[in-house]
Amino acid sequence: MRVFVTGGTGLIGSAVVAELLGNGHAVLALARSAASARAAEAAGAEPLRGALADLDVLRAGAAQADGVIHLAFGNDFSSPGALAQSVAEEGAALAALGEELTGSGRPLVTVAGTPWVAGRLSTEADPLPADGPVGGRGRAVTALLGLAARGVRTAAVRMPRTVHNQGAGGFAGLLTGIARRTGVSGYPGDGAQRWPAVHALDAAVLFRLALEQADAGTSWHAVADEGDQVRDIAAVIGRRLGLPVEPVPAETYGPLGAIFAADQPASSARTRQALGWEPKHPSLLEDLENIQP
Ligand SMILES: NC(=O)c1ccc[n+]([C@@H]2O[C@H](COP(=O)([O-])OP(=O)(O)OC[C@H]3O[C@@H](n4cnc5c(N)ncnc54)[C@H](OP(=O)(O)O)[C@@H]3O)[C@@H](O)[C@H]2O)c1
Repeated sequence: MRVFVTGGTGLIGSAVVAELLGNGHAVLALARSAASARAAEAAGAEPLRGALADLDVLRAGAAQADGVIHLAFGNDFSSPGALAQSVAEEGAALAALGEELTGSGRPLVTVAGTPWVAGRLSTEADPLPADGPVGGRGRAVTALLGLAARGVRTAAVRMPRTVHNQGAGGFAGLLTGIARRTGVSGYPGDGAQRWPAVHALDAAVLFRLALEQADAGTSWHAVADEGDQVRDIAAVIGRRLGLPVEPVPAETYGPLGAIFAADQPASSARTRQALGWEPKHPSLLEDLENIQP
């Protein structure tokens, strides 16, 4: 397939592009800068210049592809306003991509996050949260999945809190960055809350499988580790950086504080069974050993 990929130069997207190219697909990659276009080209993709807000470019990219994988996101968590703007921009982009593919039967695979359910592992059957700081993302993905009824083979590949590679990425990566800046490897609450995780190279395989095989309107969990306690994550970060490991107020994490404080383990049992996905790369706690002081 010729696949239009947004976010193809990111931590997850670069693994997805390599996975697609290594399995006989061609990639057209959205690139918002000259540097991103060069990176896409160096990876073996054809760049298409434009940003997520350029809806005409998104429509043109989808129109000339056999399928779409969407991963681009502003990832600016510095303030509630910045996060809300990224969420709104992504919602408009997904709507434009879905509109372009209506009636085509072509696959449109979007990234999402694993939901959290009090007291148990979340599963592929649980709905995405529609409220809270990232509720808008959940609503946009749920609307996209609804396009299954209008001839788009939509699927959502839900990421756990931390998608990592070489010790970097995701919520654990944010904790590492904050530890470097503040001199404390902190965690919110008592740190017993669990976060699920996956290696980016394993997540990339699941995006390809969903593109190739998933039925319309389905959701999948790219979960390798069902849930590491956050104090265990902070302990490895602190040891690698030579910093004290301590609880800190949830407000330290801005708009993400409430999400960081929640227990949110997740399962991928159905994904493994239905798509034959089997993660093979290092776990989060093993990968964090790659952090350099
Ligand atoms: N990493 C995780 O642990 C994790 C966990 C759950 C969900 N996710 C989600 O997975 C997706 C990918 O995450 P990631 O960690 O790979 O992110 P990342 O490394 O920050 O990469 C983001 C990608 O999106 C592109 N991008 C950002 N804003 C854009 C815009 N306005 N227009 C066009 N392209 C834009 C970036 O392009 P440039 O190269 O030009 O910057 C880059 O290719 C995001 O939706 C993220 O929220 C990630």
